Amino acid sequence: MSAASFPEGFVWGVSTSAFQIEGATTADGRGPSIWDGFSADRAEACDHYRRRTEDVRLMKDLGIAAYRFSVSWARVIPDGCGKVNTAGLGFYDRLLDELLAAGITPYATLYHWDLPQALEDRGGWPVRDTARHFADYAAAVHERLGDRVDTWFTVNEPWVAAFLGYGSGIHAPGRTSAADAFRSAHHMLLAHGLGVQALRAAGAAKVSAVVNHSPVLTPAQVSDSGRELSEEDAEAVARIDALANRQFLDPMLRGAYPADLIPLIERHAGLGHVRDGDLDVIAQPIDLLGVNYYAPLVVQAQPSEPADPAFPGSEGVLFCTVPTAVTAMGWPIVPGCLSQLLGRLSREYPETDLMITENGADFVDVVTGDGIHDVDRISFIEEHLRALRSAIENGARVRGYFVWTLLDNLEWADGYQRKFGLVHVDFATQKRRLKDSARWYRDVIARNGLTE
Ligand code: NOJ
Repeated sequence: MSAASFPEGFVWGVSTSAFQIEGATTADGRGPSIWDGFSADRAEACDHYRRRTEDVRLMKDLGIAAYRFSVSWARVIPDGCGKVNTAGLGFYDRLLDELLAAGITPYATLYHWDLPQALEDRGGWPVRDTARHFADYAAAVHERLGDRVDTWFTVNEPWVAAFLGYGSGIHAPGRTSAADAFRSAHHMLLAHGLGVQALRAAGAAKVSAVVNHSPVLTPAQVSDSGRELSEEDAEAVARIDALANRQFLDPMLRGAYPADLIPLIERHAGLGHVRDGDLDVIAQPIDLLGVNYYAPLVVQAQPSEPADPAFPGSEGVLFCTVPTAVTAMGWPIVPGCLSQLLGRLSREYPETDLMITENGADFVDVVTGDGIHDVDRISFIEEHLRALRSAIENGARVRGYFVWTLLDNLEWADGYQRKFGLVHVDFATQKRRLKDSARWYRDVIARNGLTE
């Protein structure tokens, strides 16, 4: 392997999610989801539901080897539980056939935040039954699509779905209760475990989950990673790491909540929702872990600081902005954190192979007569690939990399103004146009790596 190339068989892909691209929110019997009414922007998104064939062709032309998409629960089971809507499954059925015909390996995510509204009406993720309904949904999807999907991801970024959806309320369903957020997190973990069991029972080849991982550091550590911390800062870092990262990794991969997190959960939500046997279900062996990485969380101890509602229990911790380059989202660009986190995951959870299931950046794009020269996005991805390459060299077992994302799309509460795509979408006409980053990524894939 040369200094810039990647291991043989390394998987190069792009990721998307159903609500962010599909549109067609009432087509073929789809039921409403919690995001339909929540997002102020119309949910037509990229009209991918109708432009599927064109989008698959686009990926084929770019030489993309793997496509991670999500299935919309409300298309498959409009009421969230009970009757399966075969017409809704039909869309994914055709998508898979077209992907396979184009030589693209599908990776399916079952829950990317778009809970059927009917289940939210019955209490949503704070209610235990939602996890059970998820397992039934997973089985129904596998029954129709399992002959063509090898790798299944149960839930995507459960921290975001639980703590922004039910804690800070900036995501659907917009609830603001710390107790609901912790209970949702537990039930999403349980949904993962029950989903793994259901998929295994149905004969799935590989099962996994996708976590968002944000290394937590102090402002001083952003420029000097080896910097020693005061006791107060070390405690602040550990607390946020427990809330953001270990809350999900430890139950899934070690069968236990982190000891330092349990008192926080108990204080806000009690522990009645964590039943005997749950952690054994949650810790079903998985075949790989999907890791989404965008940016670190930068914090320091600050006694007067109130808790951030997205991190119940974070009183006394200040979330800092740092003088580094940032993306248009304002997220600090720190590629070194990607190598650090891959090293950490490989050390602390040595049984589990890794896959970067999302990495990418929002920048303001300028459309000119001769194209979209998104040099910032190219350098963001390139620097992260170099960091990834060096982690692999140091022994991290990373099997693939998926760019977030193929198309400019509906970025949740932020709507259409955010541009993460390799491909520009004009939302008035739905015309797709390759950005320079798309052509650049095509070359990376073709040479299985970067230039020296
Ligand atoms: C992670 C989420 O999975 C995805 O849906 C979102 O668009 C990106 N982060 C960018 O915010």
